Amino acid sequence: MNSVPIGLGVALPSRCITNTELPKELNTSDDWIIQRTGIHQRYVAGDGETTASLSTEAARKALANAKIHPQDVDLVVLGTTTGDYTFPATAVIVQKNLGISKGAAFDISAACSGFVFALDVADSYIKLGKARCALVIGADTYSRIVDWSDRSTCVLFGDGAGALVIQAQEAQNRGLMSCSIHSDGNYSRCLLTSGGVSTTGSAGSIKMFGQEVFKFAVEKFCESLTEQLINNHMTIDDVDLLIPHQANSRIIQKLIEISGIDEKKVLINISKYANTSAASIPLALNDVRNAFFSGGNTMLLSMGAGFTWGSALIRL
Ligand code: UT7
Repeated sequence: MNSVPIGLGVALPSRCITNTELPKELNTSDDWIIQRTGIHQRYVAGDGETTASLSTEAARKALANAKIHPQDVDLVVLGTTTGDYTFPATAVIVQKNLGISKGAAFDISAACSGFVFALDVADSYIKLGKARCALVIGADTYSRIVDWSDRSTCVLFGDGAGALVIQAQEAQNRGLMSCSIHSDGNYSRCLLTSGGVSTTGSAGSIKMFGQEVFKFAVEKFCESLTEQLINNHMTIDDVDLLIPHQANSRIIQKLIEISGIDEKKVLINISKYANTSAASIPLALNDVRNAFFSGGNTMLLSMGAGFTWGSALIRL
């Protein structure tokens, strides 16, 4: 049994803020942001827009694209670190919004690696025969947890959601061919929030040692890519699409340089959405959805707070 992607949907908040529209008091510039990160704009959640509402919209589109009735979904796994409530899980709110009343729904906390971690968990349920049709969602609203007076972090993030429907199919050489997830808590203080429910009683705001994260991301992207190529007896030339987490275009350029992959195969869309954390990979997949669904080998690479990192090879 293999997990085969059959539908994809995304959602963005209605408000878009370009670099030049950022508050003057931040003392930043369009040039600095573009040169150091590749970001031109980001979408920011407004009143009534939450991680659950964006996830629900993305999931509805993914189900319509897959031609699957919500009641046929028996698992919802949602990667997020900006849930609507401390509890219940945002996944159960999405489940309710979609009218699903069976199976299981839960959140996965792996920051920017949330989508790949959720995919790995859902795939394992399918391979074990414990689920037949899963909604895998990556969604975050980091605009709600950035410190809007800290120029070194607030310019980097945006909000969004993406959902992928995966279905159990008797397919040997098609679908999610392999997926790996990793974490190393020794790096937990390089990228974290300044608070939490059990410490300060509030969500806190994002704190980051940017250069440490940058170096680690390059290293783990390269390592994960090699791991997947070995697992699947492939060379870099066999990869048709490479979808790395979008944290900084310079991180992705380093990956291209080191791996030797043809850069036309690598998706870089950070200019449009900034770093949307767990939503970044499904938003990127959506930007090349025709190429993704029309066949070939698509590699996903993620890295986030924890540190966490993960990768997946999808063959369609
Ligand atoms: O998804 C989770 C993973 N996150 C990441 O992967 C992020 C990884 N890190 C990065 O992308 C980069 O490290 C940053 C974009 C966060 C920072 O870029 P950098 O080239 O490492 O800059 P820096 O932190 O070394 O700062 C260089 C200068 C500093 O000024 P001085 O000390 O040289 O005078 C900063 O204060 O740039 C200054 N600076 C800014 N200037 C204008 C920092 N942020 C800004 C800003 N606008 N927004």
